Amino acid sequence: MRVALSGTPGTGKTSVGEALARRGHTVVEVNHLAKEKGLLGRRDRRRETREVDTAALDKAISEDERLRGAILVGHLSHLLTVDLIVVLRCRPSVLAIRLADRKYPEAKVKENVEAEALDVVLIEAAETGRPVLEIDTTAMSVDGVVEAMEEILAGEREKYAIGHIDWSEEVLGWF
Ligand SMILES: Nc1ncnc2c1ncn2[C@@H]1O[C@H](COP(=O)(O)OP(=O)(O)OP(=O)(O)O)[C@@H](O)[C@H]1O
Ligand SMILES: [Mg+2]
Repeated sequence: MRVALSGTPGTGKTSVGEALARRGHTVVEVNHLAKEKGLLGRRDRRRETREVDTAALDKAISEDERLRGAILVGHLSHLLTVDLIVVLRCRPSVLAIRLADRKYPEAKVKENVEAEALDVVLIEAAETGRPVLEIDTTAMSVDGVVEAMEEILAGEREKYAIGHIDWSEEVLGWF
């Protein structure tokens, strides 16, 4: 089973992915993979990121035997051909702190906090038609999320079914 571990920047994908790798899982950062396969596109100066040709990347991943059972980590991973998408979530007010701790500029914090509040990644994931689960990491440790991921890999679905996480109350507080 190939799994995508996605979520808004700062929700903990890389931290959780690294911990899963230390526990013996095959974990690959989608961005590293894109670079390795020469599929990083144009530079987006404003966002300080580079575009990724997701279709070409998807093809390369599907043809790579080593990635058959991999956990693909990154905020684009839910757009790839996987058997299951796990979206990490974080309460917007807490995500704002995590991103500010990273010294992200205010505009970038705001952009990502808004995306989280509006379920952008979750909606994109659901639109793929593939199975999607979500983990609320707000009050969890990295190890706690790793445990949740291992429960999911062992077959748990109900506990992490989508539709229970709702940040609308926080959003209403913005007005
Ligand atoms: N429960 C948690 N799970 C994961 N990370 C957490 C948790 N609680 C706090 N953190 C912290 O939040 C930060 C998440 O950063 P990380 O780089 O893992 O996010 P990311 O989702 O990979 O972001 P990006 O999309 O920018 O790569 C880390 O500093 C991590 O220690
Ligand atoms: Mg990351």
